Amino acid sequence: MSSALTSLPAWRSLAEHRRTRAFELRELFAADPARFHKFTISHGELLLDFSKHYLDDRTLKLLVALADARGLREWIAKLVTGERINVTENRPALHTALRSTRPVLLDGRDITRDVVRVRAQMRRFSDELRGGVLKGATGQAFTDVINIGIGGSDLGPALAVDALAPYTARRPRVHFMSNVDGAHVDATLSALDPKTTLAIVVSKTFTTQETLTNAQSVRTWLENTVGKGSGKHFAAVTANVKAAHGFGIDDERIFEFWDWVGGRYSMWSAVGLPIAVAAGMDAFEAMCEGAREMDEHFTTAPFEANMPVILALLGVWYVDFFGRTAHAVLPYDMRLARFPDYLQQLEMESNGKRVTREGEALDYDTCPVVWGSPGTNGQHAFYQMLHQGTQVVPADFVVCAKPHHALAAHHRILLANCYAQSEAMMRGKTAEEARAELQAQGLSATEIARLTPHKVFPGNRPSSTIVLDSLTPRALGALIALYEHKVFTQSVIWGINAFDQWGVELGKKLADRILPELAENAPIGSHDSSTRGLIEYTRSKRSNEESK
Ligand code: F6P
Repeated sequence: MSSALTSLPAWRSLAEHRRTRAFELRELFAADPARFHKFTISHGELLLDFSKHYLDDRTLKLLVALADARGLREWIAKLVTGERINVTENRPALHTALRSTRPVLLDGRDITRDVVRVRAQMRRFSDELRGGVLKGATGQAFTDVINIGIGGSDLGPALAVDALAPYTARRPRVHFMSNVDGAHVDATLSALDPKTTLAIVVSKTFTTQETLTNAQSVRTWLENTVGKGSGKHFAAVTANVKAAHGFGIDDERIFEFWDWVGGRYSMWSAVGLPIAVAAGMDAFEAMCEGAREMDEHFTTAPFEANMPVILALLGVWYVDFFGRTAHAVLPYDMRLARFPDYLQQLEMESNGKRVTREGEALDYDTCPVVWGSPGTNGQHAFYQMLHQGTQVVPADFVVCAKPHHALAAHHRILLANCYAQSEAMMRGKTAEEARAELQAQGLSATEIARLTPHKVFPGNRPSSTIVLDSLTPRALGALIALYEHKVFTQSVIWGINAFDQWGVELGKKLADRILPELAENAPIGSHDSSTRGLIEYTRSKRSNEESK
């Protein structure tokens, strides 16, 4: 058991503070009219309002003391200077080098030179693709590009391509094929013409079953129409150049990235190629620039005024001192609809860990369940639980001050709803307020007594609100980097390695074992009765189908 964290004086002080201090948000606001100004941070094109949290000056001081006690400043230096902090894979986690304007040395070499070289290759390729210069086997320009990848090789670029739609050229259209489900393949290909479609196979390892299976099916689909010239319809992004060659992709179509970039932190590398294809290389570079500005803020701002650090510490505060095991992400922007999915991988694959870096079991909780969907849609689906459920779920609201569209009235309604929800979660509605409303409606005393409990909102439900000036490439880059650093900060507090993902391995191995067992009459190895029963049941259904 690791009690290195929970026995720290800073931790104990927080536990004591939690025990002895009642956090009533209504009262905190009533007591301090300047609370918003006190608990907001703005940097670049982002503002973080963290005033609707269980927090006072002392809480902030104690949380920052915890960060200090865990050596956060030193860990940030280790991160950005390329120490091998991914200890189980003996690698650095140098995503910040992908957007650095200064040299970053790894084993005595400036790795930003490689970044610049691949960026130039991305610019050439995306310019030619967008300009119709690049042609397929039949001499036609490409109208459509499919990104074939999953996890970190899909979620970040897919998020950015959606988010940057106002910057996106009409052609080529960019599609994302991630799931090995043939329905995803069918749905993507059915609308496309192989003669004018290019596929980018994106896989850091180039061994991922889903990606390689999908790439193979796309190759067959292309070959059926363009024959041997299908090579002109492929590009690859990978850290395993040899395997991409093995798949038959030409040198100049392979975009390299490196072991020192984690998959879920890779959208700033050539994994961002579909972003450059959709929105242009300038937009991609502006996004990296926004992320770089956030890096600068993270590495230099004092912790009490440091956006990622504050978000991270508040997360730890709720998970470990209030037992809140879920965290909602609520973007009030349809262009950020994929943001919760993106954050699920970023946060849960990074910090969903149960042992310390040294392998000791933890005696405290780590990553909460991260989930959500865009407002206002979510309001008509799951917000009931956020307001009146038995579990308190801290939330992040994300919204843009200015839209890219001209429907000003819509945007005002969107903003009003966003702010209303965080206000409602915070204020709630007391029994007295509920009763007064029912009285004003002229209901009888019996009816009022019957309905009041249903109309009460407990309130005191904490949330952050992040306001982007507008969803520009730069603001998007800063927003994503904000969360990358939040996740890293939490991993430092929890003493875990945010950069491995061993938890995905077991299922992969078992799937490899079960795959041949699904064939009719194939021997079935030893399994529990449920797994065996399911394999047999599915086989019987499929053979019934096949014998019809
Ligand atoms: O299985 C999980 C994972 O390794 C993720 O970490 C990664 O982003 C994804 O699979 C895809 O991996 P690759 O880019 O190597 O295909």
